Amino acid sequence: MNKLLISLLVTIGITGMAHAAGDATAGKGKTAVCGACHGADGNSPAAMFPKLAGQNEAYLVKQLNDIKSGTRSVVEMTGLLDAMTDQDLADIAAYYAKQAGTVGHAAKDLVEQGQKIYRGGIANKGVAACTACHTPTGEGMAQAGFPAIGGQHAAYTEKQLKMFRNGERNNDPQGMMRDIAAKLSDAEIKAVSSYIQGLGK
Ligand code: HEC
Ligand code: HEC
Repeated sequence: MNKLLISLLVTIGITGMAHAAGDATAGKGKTAVCGACHGADGNSPAAMFPKLAGQNEAYLVKQLNDIKSGTRSVVEMTGLLDAMTDQDLADIAAYYAKQAGTVGHAAKDLVEQGQKIYRGGIANKGVAACTACHTPTGEGMAQAGFPAIGGQHAAYTEKQLKMFRNGERNNDPQGMMRDIAAKLSDAEIKAVSSYIQGLGK
């Protein structure tokens, strides 16, 4: 696990540094079309649209490139990024990274199970603790490109974990999230996603 983490940190760190520096002010002007789904400040009002506010820049740049190239399929965004340059994507990422992300609530009956999985993993199934990469507060690790997931809509998180599990989303470096999600049941995914919705600094 440590070796894997280190090689991942190095890989993502180096590609992350190769990107153009983003200008948040310029980015704001390029997000008018995005606000309809993701909210003007990146705190989307609808649970199927991910919150982007407070997400780290390196992760955002990677997702935008993956979505643009089709490596990650987001049908709702078809064509939206086609005319955007690397600089546009860097500016947009810088803008959302600077916004404060809102935090929701976990369902009371799922907190205990969700917290257990998030903090300790599931030892007898070989599921790593989410804290190892996404940190105890869910803010992720910007340098490594590990996304912030704390406060995210539970419905979106649940959908991503199921898509990693069935391989529909496969843009995670070294299959890291697919390996984890493959071992999670529907009930475990529901509980941990609910817990994450209420998780913040
Ligand atoms: C019509 C609605 C819609 C519009 C407009 C839209 N998006 Fe999205 N976006 C989505 C949906 C839905 C997803 C999540 C898809 C999934 O479930 O995998 C998404 C995912 C993303 C993600 C990945 C987030 C993550 O946490 O991994 C980023 C980044 C993103 N959008 C940025 C943008 C930007 C920048 C724009 C404007 C140029 C934009 N989107 C416009 C619907 C939209
Ligand atoms: C070894 C590191 C690692 C561990 C442990 C880990 N993750 Fe991740 N996770 C990642 C990486 C890397 C990505 C980003 C993949 C990409 O670049 O598309 C990610 C992405 C995600 C996403 C998608 C975020 C978004 O905005 O679309 C969710 C949800 C997620 N992880 C949940 C979890 C949960 C729940 C656990 C614990 C059961 C967990 N992760 C454990 C590394 C990890």
